[in-house]
Amino acid sequence: MPNKCAIFDLDGVLVDTAKYHYLAWKELAEKLGFEFTLEHNEMLKGVSRMTSLDILLEVGHMKDAFTEEEKVKMATEKNNRYVEYISNIDESEILDGALPLLQELKQKGIKIALGSASKNAQIILKNVGLEKYFDVIVDGNSVSKAKPDPEVFTLGAKTLGIPYEECVVFEDSQAGLEAAKIVGMLAVGVGQEKDLTNADVVYSSLKDFKIEQYF
Ligand code: G6P
Ligand code: MG
Repeated sequence: MPNKCAIFDLDGVLVDTAKYHYLAWKELAEKLGFEFTLEHNEMLKGVSRMTSLDILLEVGHMKDAFTEEEKVKMATEKNNRYVEYISNIDESEILDGALPLLQELKQKGIKIALGSASKNAQIILKNVGLEKYFDVIVDGNSVSKAKPDPEVFTLGAKTLGIPYEECVVFEDSQAGLEAAKIVGMLAVGVGQEKDLTNADVVYSSLKDFKIEQYF
């Protein structure tokens, strides 16, 4: 059965914003007095803001050092920094191959959904000019359960009335790939194979994706 829907993660798949998440978290870690490496950062991809903070604090051996209120304050501080980074981004932050793929899918009549954990997704899409490609946008404001829970993908498929088995998910995180597979969606990893062992297939960049093999 040919696939009828493409569901895209945002950060690190369509736009190069993962680096800004990393910079903002790294600044917080430095303030707290420990180093936060790119390797540590892999664990935060696709993960919600508060869970990301918990993982970061664990890296710094500070897991139980703060109250809930202090943690909310730290997450807000990180987000303010991140929002500063993304407030001036433009189409130059769109990752290689993303735009032609969205255009081709649209031409073929394939439905396109966003499935992002980010509460900043709308502003990013608007700033880089990708909003118009999406038939439905599901983001961190519309779901209550975080990846690897599949809610962020199933909500999009349900809204479009497309069976899960006819959806292809594009993801740069292990949590997101796991979420896709739980509900029988094809899990396409975008990035390095060594980081994306949960994927059905991995492409180092969307520009290498073979659309005719899947749609
Ligand atoms: C994406 C990113 C994560 C980020 C999450 C929440 O899934 O990969 O690194 O923590 O969104 O983003 P937000 O912008 O709401 O803090
Ligand atoms: Mg991502």
